[in-house]
Amino acid sequence: MKDLPGGEQKMFEAFLKSTQYLLSLQTQQDIWEHLGKFVLTHFPADWLAFIERDPDNSLAFRYCTLPETVAAQQILTNEVRTLLADVLESGFLASRVLLMPTPSMTAFLPIVENGRASRVMLIGHTDAQPLPTGLLGIYLALAGLAGTTTERKRAEEEVRRLNAELERRVDQRTMQLQRAYEELLKEITERKQAEESLRTSEERWETTLRSIGDAVIATDADGRVVFMNEVAEKLTGWPLSESQGKDLKEIFNIVNEVTRIKPENPIAKVIRTGQVLGLSNHTALISRSGREFPIEDSGAPIRDKEGEIRGVVMVFHDISEKRIAEKAVRDSERLATTGRLASSLAHEIHNPLDTIGNLLYIINQSPDMPQPLRQHVAMASEELTRVTQMTQHMLVFQREAKTPVPIKIDEVLHNVTALYKRKIESAAIQVEEQVEFEGEFIGLPGEMRQIFANLIGNAIEAIGKNGKIRLHAYAGRDWRQGRCGLRVTVADNGPGIPSQIRDNIFDPFFTTKGESGTGLGLWITSGIIENNEGILRLRTVTRAGRSGTCFSVFFPFPT
Ligand SMILES: Nc1ncnc2c1ncn2[C@@H]1O[C@H](COP(=O)(O)OP(=O)(O)OP(=O)(O)O)[C@@H](O)[C@H]1O
Ligand SMILES: [Mg+2]
Repeated sequence: MKDLPGGEQKMFEAFLKSTQYLLSLQTQQDIWEHLGKFVLTHFPADWLAFIERDPDNSLAFRYCTLPETVAAQQILTNEVRTLLADVLESGFLASRVLLMPTPSMTAFLPIVENGRASRVMLIGHTDAQPLPTGLLGIYLALAGLAGTTTERKRAEEEVRRLNAELERRVDQRTMQLQRAYEELLKEITERKQAEESLRTSEERWETTLRSIGDAVIATDADGRVVFMNEVAEKLTGWPLSESQGKDLKEIFNIVNEVTRIKPENPIAKVIRTGQVLGLSNHTALISRSGREFPIEDSGAPIRDKEGEIRGVVMVFHDISEKRIAEKAVRDSERLATTGRLASSLAHEIHNPLDTIGNLLYIINQSPDMPQPLRQHVAMASEELTRVTQMTQHMLVFQREAKTPVPIKIDEVLHNVTALYKRKIESAAIQVEEQVEFEGEFIGLPGEMRQIFANLIGNAIEAIGKNGKIRLHAYAGRDWRQGRCGLRVTVADNGPGIPSQIRDNIFDPFFTTKGESGTGLGLWITSGIIENNEGILRLRTVTRAGRSGTCFSVFFPFPT
């Protein structure tokens, strides 16, 4: 056996140094290698091996300094296995002379980890001398050191593993959080975009509904008002702020104009049938203030993506103006028919009237006719003159079908006032003529005379005694159609035309003059003006002291 190197003091120093160094090592293998070198350098040992029991209970070399030629397995004889098992079991050291590979005194040192011998450190010496107790003590201490260091390393490794695991988990969690955050961010952005596009589409929708000319009311599926545009607010008399949430029946109060019966609630009908429906004719909407509007309307269901009815939209409009226009068309058709009828009647009557006139003349020439009879004939002649005048009025369109000629307006007005000279003078009427148009215009003189004879005649008849008539002719403009032309106004300071009859004065046979008027004057006048593409306009005031009437005639210049 080799001598102990340098005494115990030196060995302990080396041992302490080794301890510190051992602690700085990282792996189990490093620890074994270091211990191996340390033992072989500082002690009389010749070889060293670490043997461990595997989980399957077999024994395995973890480290061995024996030369490679010596198969480690050679050491593990049955006897050695039994001894190893004892050491591992008991945790006590043992020493024995091994015969393989060469006879050597070998120390069996248990390495205890966590209170259990898990490995055995074998230190072989080439001679078979018993080992000194001091050396065995140091070996034991080294084995203990190997155990605690391994334990510690394992604990550190576990901590490292746990730390790594923790870090991995933290990383994983962070990643999850990051992903969740990104998803959330995406969701928020998408939501914002959806909200934005919803808002834009709502704005567009509202602007459209606000700007269309029809009234629009939208309700939910229960028939409660959700939206209405300005036209609907005006017609129903309900502002949206007050109508929102109210039952449509309350806002949209409709009746049949003729029967006054309330039709079936349109909302209920749309929801029941699920179809677009137009309301029956003659529907009138009664506004909040009680005013009634004839309306045309329709209702349609509002469906969602799944086709479920979510509400109803009612669209309607006031047809008062349409009604007036329709009436005007009907009236003008009626007037035209009446006119045609009157003209043809006049034509048929004219010839027999001539004959009657001639006969009355002949009768009147008879010298021996009694006086009363003569008076009757005179009355008959007078009446006949009236009827003839009437038929002449009616025939004007047919008779005047000549070619137009240049006309001077001052001449026309002169001639007409001359015609009424006697009436004007006897009623002390003041006629003021102002002609500011020197030129000529193209027309039929007979027609022109007739127009102004009618208008001036009416004025004379309206003002009575001491009245005033003003005639004014000048080049003017029709602002509506942007045409230039001649404007002639006939104004009087008579009583004016009461509003109740204003709409009728242009109708044929409408007169307020009883027997003395035919009621054809204005009808014929307006007919002639229309035929010449002119305009006849009326302004009249009936207020006492300021009353009067002014007819204004406009003839466009040829373009
Ligand atoms: N300047 C006027 N001032 C007040 N009322 C007028 C005036 N012009 C017309 N009228 C009213 O219009 C009605 C119709 O006039 P229109 O000339 O068509 O017939 P008339 O004068 O009654 O009969 P006719 O012209 O055939 O003798 C008149 O009866 C009269 O009531
Ligand atoms: Mg008249």
